[in-house]
Amino acid sequence: MDIKFEEAKTLKEKPTGALGFGKIYTDYMFIADYDADQGGWHDARIVPFGPIELSPASMVLHYAQETFEGLKAYRTKDGVIQLFRPEMNARRFMNSNERLSMPKVPEDMFIDAIKALVEVEKDWVPNEEGESLYIRPYMFATEASVGVHPATSYKFVIICSPVGAYYPEGVNPVKIWVEDEYVRATPGGTGFTKCGGNYAGSLKAQEKAEEQGYTQVLWLDGVHKKYVEEVGSMNAMFVFGNTIVTAPIDGTVLPGVTRDSIIHLLKDWGYTVEERHMPIDELMEGAKNGKLTEAFGTGTAAVISPIGELCFKGEKAVINDFKTGDLTQKLYDTLTGIQWGNVEDPFGWTQ
Ligand code: COI
Repeated sequence: MDIKFEEAKTLKEKPTGALGFGKIYTDYMFIADYDADQGGWHDARIVPFGPIELSPASMVLHYAQETFEGLKAYRTKDGVIQLFRPEMNARRFMNSNERLSMPKVPEDMFIDAIKALVEVEKDWVPNEEGESLYIRPYMFATEASVGVHPATSYKFVIICSPVGAYYPEGVNPVKIWVEDEYVRATPGGTGFTKCGGNYAGSLKAQEKAEEQGYTQVLWLDGVHKKYVEEVGSMNAMFVFGNTIVTAPIDGTVLPGVTRDSIIHLLKDWGYTVEERHMPIDELMEGAKNGKLTEAFGTGTAAVISPIGELCFKGEKAVINDFKTGDLTQKLYDTLTGIQWGNVEDPFGWTQ
């Protein structure tokens, strides 16, 4: 892929102090256009970060053909900048696009574009502990049409944001509201994709949880409202001694890169991982009788977020005395150690 480069007239000041998450953007962005009548992808370019002109009739604004990805670039202590399993994001992006009748970005184009942008923005990859460059590839329908059909033109864009730890106070347990009214996904729907619509549909429950004093929701399946699926925008894992239970990837749950990496680590360490539909009653029972020893969410943004309390239909259960469990902490330390190059990477995950 030939990528043109347009130099910015001025560069921004690099931030000092706490970065937060997703508030600061770098100097440049990557854009490529897709037009069915021009043979597909064309005009790949890295240009100054700035507004994108769109027709008010652009289909994304009406019918939400939009998908995205999230990954990070890490600076190791030797100053090397590395990505973590970007091919997993490339493949998931293709699966999301396939489900939303959007054209695919080939894996090599996806990874080459990210690497080219990160190379241009290498001075933006922060070097304080827990900091990284969050990379947000996304794609949306630009065809000006209000008839309902798969669009014939799209933009694939990548922006970058230097970020600190998702939770500045560190890996601390949060309170989770088990949602029994709204659902996130149903079989045959888009639950396994990273499309903006999934997140829009989740906000109401998130607001409801916050009103009740909870940080996030635990989603139940959309048919029976009985089986445990995800926690907020993260995959959920539940530790019963040496067995870890998590929802299977069978259509309604996002195939998380962190989820997959954690499962690899757990199996490597001799734990049993059960990918199955676990009834919420089994989970609440385990939380109350102490068989549930730890619980946590996994995702790129926060890596691991321990669950300290569950509330289901007014019934509350505290997990592990509201403390971060040893296994949770070990998983966090090992995974972030690999990502920042402080721990050997036995799986060849970094590049
Ligand atoms: C993640 O955990 O990486 C997410 O999906 C959250 C992101 C949408 C900010």
